[in-house]
Amino acid sequence: MKHFINIRDIPSKELKKIIFDAKKRKSKRKKFGTLDSDRDFPLKGKLLIQMFEKSSLRTRLSFYIAIKQLDGGALTLRPDELHLNKGGESLLDTAKIISSFGNAFMLRTDSEEKLNILKKYMTIPVINGLSPKSHPTQVLSDVFTIEEIKKKSISKLQICWIGDSNNVLNSLIEASVKFSFKLNIGCPKNYEPNKELLNWVKKNNGKIKIFNDSKEAAIGSDVIFTDKVISMNDKVNKFRKIKNFKKFKVTSAVMKCAKKDAIFLHCLPRGPEVSNDVFLGKQSKVFQQALNRIYVQKSILLYCFEKLR
Ligand code: CP
Ligand code: NVA
Repeated sequence: MKHFINIRDIPSKELKKIIFDAKKRKSKRKKFGTLDSDRDFPLKGKLLIQMFEKSSLRTRLSFYIAIKQLDGGALTLRPDELHLNKGGESLLDTAKIISSFGNAFMLRTDSEEKLNILKKYMTIPVINGLSPKSHPTQVLSDVFTIEEIKKKSISKLQICWIGDSNNVLNSLIEASVKFSFKLNIGCPKNYEPNKELLNWVKKNNGKIKIFNDSKEAAIGSDVIFTDKVISMNDKVNKFRKIKNFKKFKVTSAVMKCAKKDAIFLHCLPRGPEVSNDVFLGKQSKVFQQALNRIYVQKSILLYCFEKLR
C-alpha cells in the first residue's frame, strides 16, 4: 500500500501513471450513471474512511463518488463526533481503529503534524485531502484538466499562478518539477513561496520564475491559475492581506496578457482574487476542473491500493 501525502514524495513515473489511468477510466464512463461501478470493480468491498477538520464541498463529494465508482464504499467522519482531542483518545488509538475498520483514510486537516503522526501509526493508505502546506489531490487533478483541455503534455505549456503562496501553490510548484513544466508566479514581494521549497526546486532543475507584477507573470501563458487570498488556515490580518493583493486580482486585463487561447482555473471556493467576468467567462474552465476531481481521485485511490495497471 502507498500513502498520498505530498506530490514531491511520489516519483514522476507514478504521477504520470495516475493521470494516464484517470484518462482511460473517464473515457470509458460516457454512458454510466454517477454511482455505477467501473466494469472491472477494482475496489470491491473496500471502505474509504474520510475525515474533514475543515470545510469541504468538492473534495468530500469527489472522494465519495470516486470510491463508489471503484465499487467500494465511503464513510465520512466529523472530528467533533469522535473522542479524538475531546474524550482523551490518542492519535495512536484512533489510527489503529481506523486502520482495522477501514481500508483507506483520507484526511483534511489543519495540522501537518497530525497528518504525519496518523501516517506513522496507520497500516492503511493515508491521503492528504488538504493540509496547511499542500493540496496534492487538487493539483494532480488540475494537471489532468489542463492536459484534457489543451490536448498536449503539460511539459509543453507555460503555467502561471497569480496570488498567494499557499498550500495549492506549494503542490503546483512540486508538480512543476515532477511534470517538467514552466511555472510563472505573480505575487507581492512579501508573499513569495517559502525558501525551503524554492531550494528543492533549484536542486531538482525546476523551471520557476517569480514576478512581483501580475501582468508580467501572465505574459505568454497557456493557463492562469489563482486561489483565495485568505486560506482556511490563515491567521493573518485579513484586511491588510487583501489590500496587499489588490494588484494581483485576475481580471480580463491580466487574461489579455496570456496567450489568446489561455484558460483560467481556480480550485474554489473563490474570493476577491478574480473578477466575476473572468470567473464566469469563456476562458474559465473551473467547473470542468472541479468535476475532474472525481476521475483523478479514483486513480489516486488505485495508486494507494497498488492497483494501477
Ligand atoms: N477545491 C477544493 O478542495 O474544494 P473543497 O474545499 O470544497 O473540497
Ligand atoms: N488555499 C485554500 C484552498 C481551498 C480548497 C485553503 O486552504 O483554504
